[in-house]
Amino acid sequence: MLILYGFGGVGRTLVEVVRSRTDLKISAVFDSRGGVLKCGGFEKPEIEALLRSPRGGVSRSGVGSPAALEEAFRCAEVLVDVSPPNYADGEPAVAVYRSALKAGLSIVTANKAPLALRFQEFEGKPVYYKATVMAGTPVVDLALGLRGQRPLGIRGILNGTTNYILSRVDLDGLSFADALEEAKAKGYVEPDPAIDLEGLDAAAKLVILANALGVGLSLGQVRREPLRYLGPRTKYVAEADLERGTARVSPIQLGPDDPLLSARYSTNAVEITTEVNEVRVYGKGAGRLETSLALLNDVLRAARERRCR
Ligand SMILES: NC(=O)c1ccc[n+]([C@@H]2O[C@H](COP(=O)([O-])OP(=O)(O)OC[C@H]3O[C@@H](n4cnc5c(N)ncnc54)[C@H](OP(=O)(O)O)[C@@H]3O)[C@@H](O)[C@H]2O)c1
Repeated sequence: MLILYGFGGVGRTLVEVVRSRTDLKISAVFDSRGGVLKCGGFEKPEIEALLRSPRGGVSRSGVGSPAALEEAFRCAEVLVDVSPPNYADGEPAVAVYRSALKAGLSIVTANKAPLALRFQEFEGKPVYYKATVMAGTPVVDLALGLRGQRPLGIRGILNGTTNYILSRVDLDGLSFADALEEAKAKGYVEPDPAIDLEGLDAAAKLVILANALGVGLSLGQVRREPLRYLGPRTKYVAEADLERGTARVSPIQLGPDDPLLSARYSTNAVEITTEVNEVRVYGKGAGRLETSLALLNDVLRAARERRCR
């Protein structure tokens, strides 16, 4: 039984995916104005009514009973966090994770802020976060799979929006201002543009990846320079020297043979170097369906691991 904490673009797509591909049941749904609960799980017509409810409208949908989040804990095993990131302090999600974990639930999240700010607190607890970095591309699994090798560094193009803007300038000849306007018009830029354009999103993903590799990098350690176009082959690169504990997100003019250049438009790329290996992954970095499928993969894993406990 699942609780959805957040019911926007990704939350609604996840409901469609869960309904069409699994037998899993959803017992509660919350948005910014409250939530509804049905302990036995919502039936198909109730799910359809929820999907028809406007943003902020689940508690007035007439489905289930209006409920506080803590009430929903007693009839679910997994809470899925698809609420917006708050990079100031991670709240309210951090408090939600603490109380849900205390009540015995597992957490599956697409929200980067709680882990980027408090990874160590949630390390070793049933918190699954594959959807936070490169969504449809399981790079978190890769990082976890490299544990045991001494990690040396990470380099990546971890934000699709800024890579799209730079690619439109570099490959299609748009001015930086026009490419930025286009990305905004297409809805690619976060409501708070600093999250993309000042490197917060890429920095958060870098921190999560470093911690997945076993290195306690914090968000405050990542130096950030805002997005700019410096000339041909400019990329907004997130990089960490994991031995020195230094990290930054900044625009860099890459050399003509740099493998990161093949990440174009909204494609992401990451390169992880360890004492014995250099691994490179390219793939989609976001998208509602891609993110929902990553969440579903983690939900199924959380359920499997709960059965084994
Ligand atoms: N979109 C992607 O491709 C993508 C990819 C990877 C990760 N993510 C992450 O996934 C999360 C969801 O993204 P999204 O695109 O679905 O965002 P969204 O469309 O803005 O939806 C956010 C949802 O969270 C709800 N919410 C806000 N504050 C809340 C609170 N205090 N308690 C409960 N619910 C609250 C909102 O309520 P209202 O409906 O009332 O506004 C809305 O339903 C974000 O953390 C995002 O960074 C997204």
